Amino acid sequence: DLGAHPDHMAKEIDEQPGVVADVLARVRHRTADGSTWVGLGLPPFDRLAVVACGTSLHAGQVIANTVRSLGGVPTDTVVASEVEHVVLGPGTLVLAISQSGETADVLRALDRLDDRHPVLALTNHVHSSLARRADAVLDCHAGPEVGVAATKSFTAQVVVGVTAVVSALVASGRLEPSRAVALVDDLARLPERMAAAAVVAADRVPLLAATVRDAPGFLFLGRGPGLPYAAEGALKVKELSYRWAEASPAGELKHGPLALVDDGTPVVVVDHGDPRLQSAIAEVRARGGFVVTIGGAGSDVPAVARPADATDLAWGRSVAPWGPIEAVVPLQMLARELALQLGCDVDKPHDRARSVTVR
Ligand code: F6R
Repeated sequence: DLGAHPDHMAKEIDEQPGVVADVLARVRHRTADGSTWVGLGLPPFDRLAVVACGTSLHAGQVIANTVRSLGGVPTDTVVASEVEHVVLGPGTLVLAISQSGETADVLRALDRLDDRHPVLALTNHVHSSLARRADAVLDCHAGPEVGVAATKSFTAQVVVGVTAVVSALVASGRLEPSRAVALVDDLARLPERMAAAAVVAADRVPLLAATVRDAPGFLFLGRGPGLPYAAEGALKVKELSYRWAEASPAGELKHGPLALVDDGTPVVVVDHGDPRLQSAIAEVRARGGFVVTIGGAGSDVPAVARPADATDLAWGRSVAPWGPIEAVVPLQMLARELALQLGCDVDKPHDRARSVTVR
């Protein structure tokens, strides 16, 4: 039932603040005391390997950034179809992420891995093949996702995943419980931030999309914790609009991708408040590129209205380890709007199935 929404993608984008609030209500009191992790019954780990594809891989990159920066745990993110080219050391926990739990590349990756690595599944389908195969399961609680493009499942994977790793770090003594409480309190403001981001984006995105819709290709830039969101924004444009969209770390621009930027080339910058993004923005503008900044206060499509005295983690002096989660809302809305203006079906893009069960 679409209710007042024009399509499932719009509905599922809109549902995100509610999904996050629901997830946090379930896990909040179990995060800072380590009990989420203890309840999974898994052995302690020294390293983490995240295995996933597509949007789930981007959620995995956010989770990996979190566990690295908060706990100093060596972490790899592995494209599931490339698993045979990686070596996992002893003591590695495998975190397999899949919305559907039926993605053949992920299931095959687990078959190829050595049995001694315990597998934790993060999925929206707790009775899926992935869940059956795993040693422990984390439910995303995103509710049914009908649109082919993953939206609310991404946000749910990020929130369930980062709270689980925070819990694991507390349980293993790598993170102070008081720091975990502060991090969870920061996440608790996410529903409100996402809803505010959606309001601003609804106002600004249609005109932006009209300005860039005839471009043959798009560049998405980010840095550090902002990078998975840039990659996610680019993937959404590709699959919904059938346009080229490349994501690049902002610092890599000068090593090649800048050559793609010409008069009017749209360059979407995920701005999480890192001043080092400014030099990339200046390089793009010097070549005539059309810069769209998304996320930070004062950007073209801000994901947060930041009061002058705010001290929140994400946008204050320190950046939250999971980066600008709320920035995904305007990125999803931009991709959807672009696709609609180009006459594409946002719920059923061609050549894409709900879950990819072939390899
Ligand atoms: C993007 C998208 C795909 C999936 C990928 C993995 O919007 O939907 O990139 O994320 O096929 O699917 P799951 O998460 O079901 O393993």
